[in-house]
Amino acid sequence: MTILVTGATGKIGRHVVQDLLAAGKDVRALSRQPQTAGLPPEVTVVEGDLTVPESLAAALDGVESAFLFPVLDAIPDFAASAKRAGVQRVVLFTGAWAAGHTERDRGSWVYPRYRAAEAALENSGVAEWTVLRPAPFQTNMLWWASSVRAESVVRAPYPAATCPLIHEADIAAVGALALTEGGHHAARYTLTGPAAVSQTEQVAAIGDAIGREVRFEELTAEQWRATTGKFLRPGIASDLLREWSETAADPSRALPVLKTVEELTGRPARSIAEWAADHAADFA
Ligand SMILES: NC(=O)c1ccc[n+]([C@@H]2O[C@H](COP(=O)([O-])OP(=O)(O)OC[C@H]3O[C@@H](n4cnc5c(N)ncnc54)[C@H](OP(=O)(O)O)[C@@H]3O)[C@@H](O)[C@H]2O)c1
Repeated sequence: MTILVTGATGKIGRHVVQDLLAAGKDVRALSRQPQTAGLPPEVTVVEGDLTVPESLAAALDGVESAFLFPVLDAIPDFAASAKRAGVQRVVLFTGAWAAGHTERDRGSWVYPRYRAAEAALENSGVAEWTVLRPAPFQTNMLWWASSVRAESVVRAPYPAATCPLIHEADIAAVGALALTEGGHHAARYTLTGPAAVSQTEQVAAIGDAIGREVRFEELTAEQWRATTGKFLRPGIASDLLREWSETAADPSRALPVLKTVEELTGRPARSIAEWAADHAADFA
């Protein structure tokens, strides 16, 4: 049984690959640049681009399950190609905002886009589908890595903003289960970390992990937005600013902490301290 992992060279995808290999599965990876994929030798890396449906036939041939990275506009074509290729099970991740836990989430820029991608998979005719809706990622702290390395400083708005950020390995662990076990068809799992953590606490966790103090230099929302042009779509930057401003003013407006990771995997979701220890080298 071959499992195709798209996004396999990314932060979540690399863990999905590791988990599947550890479970003894035959793993195929999709990458636009197989020559620089840097995946373990047991993995067959196939060249393909999710936005180019014709490039997916070889990757999907003989595949039983697929992990689907959210290149949102590409989901309808991928799901149709998977159905045609006889793929039995597809696991897509989107984001917790798709669950619409708050009025803020339902009004977000990303909400209709995530929901449309999910609906495209759900209505594709693929026999089994699962949607993972992870909270904002702990890896978002990597946005701060270069200024921490160079100046021991984090520049961001809303130090009190709080969210139960999730470790990429926990998203992957649930993904690997949904790819390999029955019982997850038509599930939409919202996944969070084990506790809401403020941005101040995130910065402190990085400082603890690297053994030196990291200062928080507060930016205004507009100063921060001006730094995001290269790595965030304006709609997502607006969604984040709204979430941060609301949760900084009132922490009870954060996404609730959920036990889904622990219930599914049998181990607690990884904390911010574990994440900072795992990534200390990025900040040192
Ligand atoms: N950051 C958050 O808090 C958050 C929360 C919820 C959801 N999300 C979603 O998570 C995604 C980012 O995940 P990540 O941080 O794990 O990503 P990442 O580390 O940046 O990795 C991106 C992966 O996607 C693959 N990829 C990108 N475009 C592709 C294409 N056109 N065709 C085939 N593969 C493609 C890349 O593969 P190659 O380069 O090898 O082709 C790579 O493996 C975003 O879509 C975002 O909407 C983010």
